[in-house]
Amino acid sequence: MTIVANAPRVQHSTIDPAPVREIRVAVLGLGQVGGAIAALAARARGTLPASFEVASALVRDPRKPRAIDAAALPLTTDPRTALASKPDVLVEVLGGIEPARTLVLEALNAGIPVVTANKTLLAYCGAELFSAAAAAGVPLLYEASVLAGVPFLGTLGRRPLARSVTGFRAILNGTSNFVLTRMARDGAGFAEALTSAQRAGFAEPDPSKDIEGDDAVEKLCVLLRHLAGFDIHPSQIDKTGIAGVDGRDQQHASAFGGTVRPVAAADWSGETVTAYVGPVYVEGTNALSRVDGVQNAIALTTLWSGELFFSGPGAGPTVTAATVLDDVVEASQNGEATSIEHEPASPRAANPRLRHRSRQTPPVTSVNDGAWFVRLTSSSLGEADAPSLLASLGVRIRRASCIDARSGRHSQWLLTHPCGRAHLDAALDVLSAKTGCSAWRIPALE
Ligand SMILES: NC(=O)c1ccc[n+]([C@@H]2O[C@H](COP(=O)([O-])OP(=O)(O)OC[C@H]3O[C@@H](n4cnc5c(N)ncnc54)[C@H](OP(=O)(O)O)[C@@H]3O)[C@@H](O)[C@H]2O)c1
Repeated sequence: MTIVANAPRVQHSTIDPAPVREIRVAVLGLGQVGGAIAALAARARGTLPASFEVASALVRDPRKPRAIDAAALPLTTDPRTALASKPDVLVEVLGGIEPARTLVLEALNAGIPVVTANKTLLAYCGAELFSAAAAAGVPLLYEASVLAGVPFLGTLGRRPLARSVTGFRAILNGTSNFVLTRMARDGAGFAEALTSAQRAGFAEPDPSKDIEGDDAVEKLCVLLRHLAGFDIHPSQIDKTGIAGVDGRDQQHASAFGGTVRPVAAADWSGETVTAYVGPVYVEGTNALSRVDGVQNAIALTTLWSGELFFSGPGAGPTVTAATVLDDVVEASQNGEATSIEHEPASPRAANPRLRHRSRQTPPVTSVNDGAWFVRLTSSSLGEADAPSLLASLGVRIRRASCIDARSGRHSQWLLTHPCGRAHLDAALDVLSAKTGCSAWRIPALE
């Protein structure tokens, strides 16, 4: 290693481009993220080319004990006060749809740039909010709504070739990934792994939105709008929760050289979108198989830049606050450097002639082909030779486990070669009718 003492600093460094600017921020919500934003704004004073003044902070209960010292903050329970505090930027970190939707619309209509970390709001009301932003000519930025600690959406937004994306495979929910990682690493069952996530503060007391896949579905919808210009409602996405994965699935996945992970996947070409959220068998050679615990990651398939892989913390108050405040700096430069357009990324959609069509809701299908990871269970599977039977029905089997006869039930795990979903399901129905076994299957990713 070479040590350079007293390294000279260039005057016009790209990391320190501007003189200090004062930015007045109205923060809607002073919970985990809002509190961290206020704390970071105070701590970062004097160290950044921007300084943030919290002009107002909207809460439900001003007397509630908070993780931060809120004594010096202008707390209010009145949304009008927040909007009337004449902020340069309004930050929405309330969560949910209302009153966030109404307040964000009011701010945009009043010409106030908005930054939000709220994927639920964007997934359900994105079309309305982005058209209000476009009509008012003000930015609506949302980098922290997906992979909160990984600033990749804005980066891609400014790079038309890199953002020529045609699909992605991602781990978007840290809680589910923590649970499945713990099951794979320590042989824990689902309930035990979920309890340990709650004890470690990585799962809410009510973790259903994470475990059932709704959180990842909302993020996937935000990504489909950002990367492809599609306005897709969360109800259109096929989702499977992770509660159906058991500890032995992870053991056998590991014996096959892979692991089960909570994956959000989408591909688009032509006029349809394929999208899926749920547990997926991921081969050990795939980078997503090494994304552990609460980490998030996304692998983007691009037309010109190969596969781009971003990973890092997907949540956490401080990392989210840092991403939000970077958005605040960008949003406050409205009219100087910020582009508010979130144009579609595919060449089809980027064609101005077709751009209008790209805004219409396309048909969305689920994963229909590719390989599958299958668990078969019955009281007498040993007599059936399920792999041969499936092979005779045209389902080619790549790997088959020995029959696991623990707990009085026979179970067997299979990894198939690529096979249409309808074909696989028909073959499993025949197998089930002949042997009485039940089948559980998830997509497999190379
Ligand atoms: N937590 C993370 O690591 C993370 C990461 C990325 C994105 N996000 C997103 O950031 C947003 C905020 O998350 P959070 O974890 O900070 O939530 P939180 O801890 O529940 O905080 C919500 C805040 O909003 C206030 N609030 C809610 N409804 C209100 C209403 N009707 N009127 C006035 N104030 C209201 C609450 O006031 P009181 O304090 O008085 O109850 C609280 O201060 C969500 O959209 C979330 O998805 C969070």
